[in-house]
Amino acid sequence: MGTTTRAAVLAQSGGNAKPYAENAPLRFAELDLDAPGQGEVRVAIDAAGLCHSDLSVVNGDRVRPMPMALGHEGTGIVEALGPGVTGLEVGDRVVLVFLPSCGRCTPCLSGEGYLCETGAAANGRGELIGGGFRLHDCGSDVHHHLGVSCFATHVVVDQRSTVKVDRDIPAEVAAVFGCAVLTGVGAAINSAAIRAGETVVVFGLGGVGLAALMGAVASGAATVIGVDLAPNKIALADDLGAIGTTPDQLEAVMAEHLGGKADVVIETVGNAKVLASAYTAARRGGRVVTVGLPSPEQRLDLQAVSLVAEGKSLIGSYMGSSIPARDIPRYVAMWKAGRLPVDRLISSTHKLDDLNEMLDAMDRGEAIRQIIRF
Ligand SMILES: NC(=O)c1ccc[n+]([C@@H]2O[C@H](COP(=O)([O-])OP(=O)(O)OC[C@H]3O[C@@H](n4cnc5c(N)ncnc54)[C@H](O)[C@@H]3O)[C@@H](O)[C@H]2O)c1
Ligand SMILES: [Zn+2]
Ligand SMILES: [Zn+2]
Repeated sequence: MGTTTRAAVLAQSGGNAKPYAENAPLRFAELDLDAPGQGEVRVAIDAAGLCHSDLSVVNGDRVRPMPMALGHEGTGIVEALGPGVTGLEVGDRVVLVFLPSCGRCTPCLSGEGYLCETGAAANGRGELIGGGFRLHDCGSDVHHHLGVSCFATHVVVDQRSTVKVDRDIPAEVAAVFGCAVLTGVGAAINSAAIRAGETVVVFGLGGVGLAALMGAVASGAATVIGVDLAPNKIALADDLGAIGTTPDQLEAVMAEHLGGKADVVIETVGNAKVLASAYTAARRGGRVVTVGLPSPEQRLDLQAVSLVAEGKSLIGSYMGSSIPARDIPRYVAMWKAGRLPVDRLISSTHKLDDLNEMLDAMDRGEAIRQIIRF
């Protein structure tokens, strides 16, 4: 039987004037929610985090089909099972993940479910991986954001968009595992495969960058430098066992603490100019991992010959090259052991109706992870 959900709906991708608090691009609406179909579950959301990728849909850096119910980092409790669901029960806590994998396409068969072609195509159409829409506004379909749409009291998602976690994890902490932690820690551990003793520079200290920094520290990196413009984030990097600095001080800090360039550089800003600086900061033979999602118009300007002559690797990292069902439980265990203090990513908590103000705070670079509690 269908139910309803109160959700944050965006009418247009791009062309939304700032400040968002005044112009309110997100509207809060009671939508009709279908019953879960084959392999799908209904989840009562209790916490969701705002990621820069949500802001990018609002400001048009990542254009998506509209109207769309936004949100892709969240957690909740399973409250109904569709036919054919296995391994989940009503009452389980799940973390939602923003790319379901089909298990059948070439990337999936190659162990790279984070590049699933079927999941990416469904996300691009704003549909669930099973096809079509479960959200309706007075009879018209509403698109799903990355198969999740968790800025809502309730969601219907494919089982493959969920990972079950322990009930005892606080909801606001569980939420950040879905994007910031999966992406950032995964970029350090999976994509960069940091080895103990290596030196690491992380560009951008938002939720994703600070998670990458924590992943680098937990991997046993000898020195980790975090680069941002915001003083509060630089101070937090210092507190987390790294060295925080600004872009204009970076060269001097690298000279003092690394004696030169870094083994590994991770970019989490989403700007091609910053990526070019990140590339320059890597040593001969160094690995440059790019996580940020710049607008598609941006082009990367690199000295082409240096890739060969300096033997550098430039590695794109989607969803932290993570296998969510394997990696989320690992990162949870590291958090419980005190080795991945991801609760420190949470900079404030809010109500669903604060989302337009929260977009402004993220746009100004002030916030880390702002969490909505339901
Ligand atoms: N690859 C993926 O799977 C994936 C997943 C999630 C998010 N993302 C992308 O990763 C990026 C980061 O996401 P987030 O939620 O952490 O964003 P955020 O806005 O919280 O963080 C970005 C940080 O970059 C800093 N910054 C801006 N200009 C800078 C500069 N010139 N030098 C250094 N720092 C600078 C900002 O102050 C901010 O702290 C975004 O582009 C987002 O779309 C990618
Ligand atoms: Zn995200
Ligand atoms: Zn696939």
